[in-house]
Amino acid sequence: MNMNKKDRPIGVFDSGIGGLTVLKEIIKELSDEGTIYLGDTARVPYGIRSPETVIRYSFENTKFLFSKNIKLLVVACNTASSVGLEAIKNSISIPVIGVIEPGARAALKATRNKKVGVIGTEATIKSNSYTKAVKAIDKDIEVFGLACPLFVPLVEEGWTDGDIVTMVAEKYLREMKNNHIDTLVLGCTHYPLLKKVISLVIGGDVKLIDSAIEVAKEIRVILEMADLKTEKSRKPQREFYVTDSPERFLTVGERFLGNKIEHIEKIEVGN
Ligand code: DGL
Repeated sequence: MNMNKKDRPIGVFDSGIGGLTVLKEIIKELSDEGTIYLGDTARVPYGIRSPETVIRYSFENTKFLFSKNIKLLVVACNTASSVGLEAIKNSISIPVIGVIEPGARAALKATRNKKVGVIGTEATIKSNSYTKAVKAIDKDIEVFGLACPLFVPLVEEGWTDGDIVTMVAEKYLREMKNNHIDTLVLGCTHYPLLKKVISLVIGGDVKLIDSAIEVAKEIRVILEMADLKTEKSRKPQREFYVTDSPERFLTVGERFLGNKIEHIEKIEVGN
């Protein structure tokens, strides 16, 4: 299809459903832009896998979305952004945005006492991606990373409030509280859905950074700078692809997105 470059969709991929929290903010910020979302639901979670495997999966996802004629790629997954962003950027000729740098910049803007916490998957925390991104701008900021692996399955189950998730949050965040942070980065696609519980446990005076909102703002800036914003205002294209059966994605996903999911298709990547 010979489409004006500006009217091409934005491609977004995540290891599964969680990236819909990022897509939601993109749609809020740039409602006229078309979007194509790929959730690699057959291979989620990425957060417990080796960097080599996450990079391989990310390449395969990128290849699929690139073949859909997208104008910009968003790596919504914190784990994939942490270990694979540079490699992905080098592999395609369109702008690529990850979620780490926008989140790190927002944390820097928010902190007053220069003590920032980051929570994420094991792979994200192990990669030190947030620490590196924060320290690249201000090396005097102290960054405290903490993996909270149980948060992802709890959110996938829909347990975003109540006793169990509160107990898990208390156990994880007890250690973080001792660091006297004033800012906490929600460094995983799923954690924005736990904002209420996390805030309750860590304390209302700690500012929570939701990378998704920052990413959406950054996309606007990049599209404007590259003169790639669509000028159309008709109903934008919304396509969803998954690598496993769509049923679960539909039920949980509509809650993540806060909207109906239409045009969903199961596909295979990497062949
Ligand atoms: N999307 C992942 C992230 O943001 C969380 C789920 C997973 O481990 O794949 O790190």
